[in-house]
Amino acid sequence: MSEKRVVPQVIFPILKFCIYLRIVFVTIAHPNARPLSRQLHAEETTSPMNTEHTLVEDYYDKETFKRIKSLADTKETPFVVIDLATVERHYDVLQELFPYASVYYAVKANPAPEIITLLRDKGSNFDVASIYELDKLLAHGVTADRCSYGNTIKKSRDIRYFYEKGVRMYATDSEADVRNIAKAAPGSKVYVRILTEGSGTADWPLSRKFGCQSDMAMDLMVLARDLGLIPYGVSFHVGSQQRDIGAWDAAIGKVKVIFERLKEEDNIILKMVNLGGGFPANYITRANALETYAEEITRFIEEDFGSDFPEIILEPGRSLISNAGILVSEVVLISRKSHTALQRWIFTDVGKFSGLIETMDECIKYPIYVEKHGELEEVVIAGPTCDSADIMYENYKYGLPLNLAVGDRMYWFSAGAYTTSYSAIEFNGFPPLKSYYV
Ligand SMILES: Cc1ncc(COP(=O)(O)O)c(C=O)c1O
Repeated sequence: MSEKRVVPQVIFPILKFCIYLRIVFVTIAHPNARPLSRQLHAEETTSPMNTEHTLVEDYYDKETFKRIKSLADTKETPFVVIDLATVERHYDVLQELFPYASVYYAVKANPAPEIITLLRDKGSNFDVASIYELDKLLAHGVTADRCSYGNTIKKSRDIRYFYEKGVRMYATDSEADVRNIAKAAPGSKVYVRILTEGSGTADWPLSRKFGCQSDMAMDLMVLARDLGLIPYGVSFHVGSQQRDIGAWDAAIGKVKVIFERLKEEDNIILKMVNLGGGFPANYITRANALETYAEEITRFIEEDFGSDFPEIILEPGRSLISNAGILVSEVVLISRKSHTALQRWIFTDVGKFSGLIETMDECIKYPIYVEKHGELEEVVIAGPTCDSADIMYENYKYGLPLNLAVGDRMYWFSAGAYTTSYSAIEFNGFPPLKSYYV
């Protein structure tokens, strides 16, 4: 027998005996202790209870909340109320902070006519995902030259539809799509979407499905030129609710390399960088202020591009709309799963299928405000459908007042974006989430 094999033969039984002794000790000393494996699992997947009441003033100024609440008090739940003055203010602040950028509102965040017309009149452009969004924009007086077809996944006949309506700017990330654009929208501007890092720090990551590696991006721009298109720029999306501002630094660095190499090697002069969305809204997990994003991102562009500052596009969705809205629901049922259970289940009349899909994997943690005060108790929060996936929060421990009762209202703050547009049409017979605008 070799020496190498003797060592494990001696050590493993000793190690096993030590582990056995530790388990016996833990069991005698702490008779109620959970097995070690369960403790580890619990530490990984659960969080301590949120011990603070959600405060209105952390999310809305008094006047705004009053405006929203007065309308909410007259309506039957569930619904979202959007304060249009807040959307307008967010748009103005964004333009002030990025004076050099053109804003293309990501319509998917909330395609309500009230928001489209407000942003139309503010001079915004629009990032469009489908022919249906395009039709809606055109029907509300947005001209085609203010639209960009930002979805990299599109049918050839839909590209033709956009072209016939007058749209001349298209996102792409694949050869087949570039060829389709060249045929269906000849001579148009194309920008290529690249893959970026940052999915670990974005609450709602977007990158893996969209974009391509830099090498391929360059090849696509060369192909676009050869097929008669205008290679116009590079886009990326660092992930929605991106909390690491450095994600833009890395992405802008990649874009700069693409700009330089295409210029040197293929004589292609790109003009535009599309910085995507990803800018923050206020949820329970805080992010830096938008001012800080703007300062840092501007510095990154200056450092990489110097005096050759490119044309910049922003595609905000969440940061413009989320904090302008409050989703209002009602408690349908409160229960415990056993007589001694320490947790209550709060079932409410809105759920994953009626607007709160972004609670999937508990990604977005909406601040929940209720009008009752007093001692808080750990709760699981679930929706009204007969689907066991319709649980919004179980691992993250919301604390809600013990005196919360059936019929009480729950106010889901910062829920203006990605709620009405994600709501199912008729799951379990429930109608789509209603929305009102003040
Ligand atoms: C292409 C594109 N641009 C912009 C956005 C908006 O991003 P955000 O809501 O993070 O601002 C999205 C969101 O999905 C998107 O797909």
